[in-house]
Amino acid sequence: SGYLPKLRNALEKFGVPELLLNFVSTKVGENGETLKIIPQARGALSALSGQPFFIPLYNLFLTYGGIFRLNFGPKSFLIVSDPAIAKHILKDNSKAYSKGILAEILEFVMGTGLIPADGEVWRVRRRAVVPALHQKYVAAMIGLFVNATDRLCKKLDDAASDGEDVEMESLFSRLTLDVIGKAVFNYDFDSLKNDTGIVDAVYTVLREAEDRSMSPIPVWNIPVWKDISPRQRKVSEALSLINNILDELIAICKRMVEEEELQFHEEYMNEQDPSILHFLLASGDDVSSKQLRDDLMTMLIAGHETSAAVLTWTFFLLSKEPGVMAKLQSEVDSVLGGRFPTIEDMKKLKYTTRVINESLRLYPQPPVLIRRSLQDDMLGEYPITRGEDIFISVWNLHHCPNHWIDAEKFNPERWPLDGPNPNETNQNFSYLPFGGGPRKCLGDMFATCETVVAVAMLVQRFDFQMAVGAPPVEMTTGATIHTTEGLLMTVTRRTKPPIIPTLDTKIATSVKADADDSLK
Ligand code: HEM
Repeated sequence: SGYLPKLRNALEKFGVPELLLNFVSTKVGENGETLKIIPQARGALSALSGQPFFIPLYNLFLTYGGIFRLNFGPKSFLIVSDPAIAKHILKDNSKAYSKGILAEILEFVMGTGLIPADGEVWRVRRRAVVPALHQKYVAAMIGLFVNATDRLCKKLDDAASDGEDVEMESLFSRLTLDVIGKAVFNYDFDSLKNDTGIVDAVYTVLREAEDRSMSPIPVWNIPVWKDISPRQRKVSEALSLINNILDELIAICKRMVEEEELQFHEEYMNEQDPSILHFLLASGDDVSSKQLRDDLMTMLIAGHETSAAVLTWTFFLLSKEPGVMAKLQSEVDSVLGGRFPTIEDMKKLKYTTRVINESLRLYPQPPVLIRRSLQDDMLGEYPITRGEDIFISVWNLHHCPNHWIDAEKFNPERWPLDGPNPNETNQNFSYLPFGGGPRKCLGDMFATCETVVAVAMLVQRFDFQMAVGAPPVEMTTGATIHTTEGLLMTVTRRTKPPIIPTLDTKIATSVKADADDSLK
């Protein structure tokens, strides 16, 4: 299928006119119809090095449009940046696509967990896991988000007292690790304090997953290498440490489930242990299965790095837009005053939610979605064959200059406060922070509440500025977008504006003063 685009490129070089070129951009189908050939990007390989890969893909999108082919040595990828084609792949014809390369990369850590799983395994597990994240569960999680964020606030309070700058990216990573550990299997990593053993193991595994997603040659699959490479040994040790802990947690949870008078129903939740694991065991999930471990591990990783990245980039964006920060703090002050957020506040913290929506537009996590075609299909006007590897660039969809006014501007106001919460459906697949179709993120409500609570509590108590002499904030990628050198910020306690008594309270005070006087 590759020769026609190559021919077209060669002819173009020799100055063959556009009209003639269009001849070689089409081929004739079985029924005599003309079929268009997907444009092929040229000179792309060199441009790909030295920056996060989705940036050159953005530049190529501006040149070649909503779908183009990219050759990488013997490999070829289709890059999709068109909302209608994205919708077709993710939703309308999702059955014709698998997770492809992604499943291969993540197999070592997630096995056949929900993210990489395909076909029947995925269908069965999605049905088992989704009910665990019911509304009552998410509501119960608010308290957990508050506790974890409060621990972070204490840490920032100390830094503010000592006049020390703080590297926020690693703190956010620890905050969300603490949250997801408790939420998924009732384990307190306490990673804001602890830095040993299990926390270290989680980071070893995460880093490996990120490196593998960027490495062109799968060295980890070479049998001898697996045994002798010190790094691969460290990864295996980390994995078995995590698996042992998972086994212990499953055993503890199993005992709890056996001891309770179980009445399983739709919104079942154990108050002492509202974790997803507890729900799954209570619903009859097989404790000894590898699938249960794979799903727990998948959720640990899926819910950890993504939320941490959202918080990191949100605070970076806020540091550049003091006007947005002021508006945010004013909403938080008026909704919360000085107290902790509750589930009722989630609907009221509208601007805070818009800040998160907009942060996810500018920094989608992950920036691309990966699929492989399982059968021949039509993408827009282009036919494709089975076995194509496809990258849907959410980055391109979210930055498209034709779709968004002032696309690069961090402007939460673009989402009206009284409008619906933006999602892939009401934005017609131009905005898909949590994917779309049957494989859509099942933690979307969870993650939105988690990040809204964290942002609200942090800006309620502190002001944040880029530290003087902080390293420049640049992007690098693994599965999510990271900074290259951290996000170094100066955190100061907020000085609350003085409370000016309103007329009513003045009267009330003076009445009370009179009463006090009369008591003398
Ligand atoms: C899938 C984003 C938090 C669990 C996805 C997908 C996206 C996404 C874009 C679709 C992937 C694809 O189509 O290839 C995010 C973001 C988060 C977040 C931006 C935080 C802000 C979470 C949390 C959990 C979670 C907290 C767990 C509690 C999952 C799972 C899937 C998934 C299990 C796979 C669903 C399936 O294939 O059926 N996520 N996620 N995510 N996410 Fe999230």
